[in-house]
Amino acid sequence: MLALEGLNAHYGASHVLQGVDLEVPDGTITAVLGRNGVGKTTTLRTIMGLLPPSSGRVLLGGRDIAGWAPHLVARVGVAYVPEGRLIFPDLTVVENIRVAERRPAKEWPIDRLFELFPALRERAGNKGAQLSGGEQQMLALARALVSDPKVLLLDEPSQGLAPLVVRELARVIRRLCEGGVTILLIEQNMKLAEEIADRIAIMVKGRIVYSASPAAFRAEEASIRTQYLTV
Ligand SMILES: Nc1ncnc2c1ncn2[C@@H]1O[C@H](COP(=O)(O)OP(=O)(O)O)[C@@H](O)[C@H]1O
Ligand SMILES: [Mg+2]
Repeated sequence: MLALEGLNAHYGASHVLQGVDLEVPDGTITAVLGRNGVGKTTTLRTIMGLLPPSSGRVLLGGRDIAGWAPHLVARVGVAYVPEGRLIFPDLTVVENIRVAERRPAKEWPIDRLFELFPALRERAGNKGAQLSGGEQQMLALARALVSDPKVLLLDEPSQGLAPLVVRELARVIRRLCEGGVTILLIEQNMKLAEEIADRIAIMVKGRIVYSASPAAFRAEEASIRTQYLTV
């Protein structure tokens, strides 16, 4: 299990994470929703070690990894797919995957990745810049998987994708979870979150203020939405 306890983080004098408490049980998808600027991306960056927390714990299987360097966080099984995908435009699909592969992937060798993402097999020799948004997102996921993660942090993976591509993405994320990868998903697409997540959490001003099952969330969605999500 990944658990955040009283996590605080600052950008300079700006107190961005103000005591984040969140549990992401093994083998589940936990979605975090929230308005722009509340600290969702900062939460993932802090877990990944890209921003040192000022206090609080990041527990992975009971061990506190808060403040570890990113490569050490990766080594204990956490992978991060940043917002905007950030793939290398001048490298091919295969090269993009290979540069991320520090040691030969055990769980996710390239053949298995291509089974999960058949479109990438067809595009194997194409440059990153030549891919569609959906293919770029799949490549970003493939690149995260080569480190054989136990926990995958996804930052707004559906952003800018057409509805049909979002459907495909939903299937892939669900399959990854069923294959044993635990997922912390940041989303603006409430429908996607409701559809695939086991738990929905809402962040407001650097804190998790709400957490419920998708069914419970749906039942009170209208009021929750105006209270916490719409601008
Ligand atoms: N590199 C940075 N330096 C200073 N402030 C930042 C930086 N990145 C984000 N922030 C600020 O931190 C707050 C939270 O940002 P972020 O975590 O990106 O929010 P979200 O992902 O929920 O939209 C915002 O007020 C944002 O302006
Ligand atoms: Mg963000």
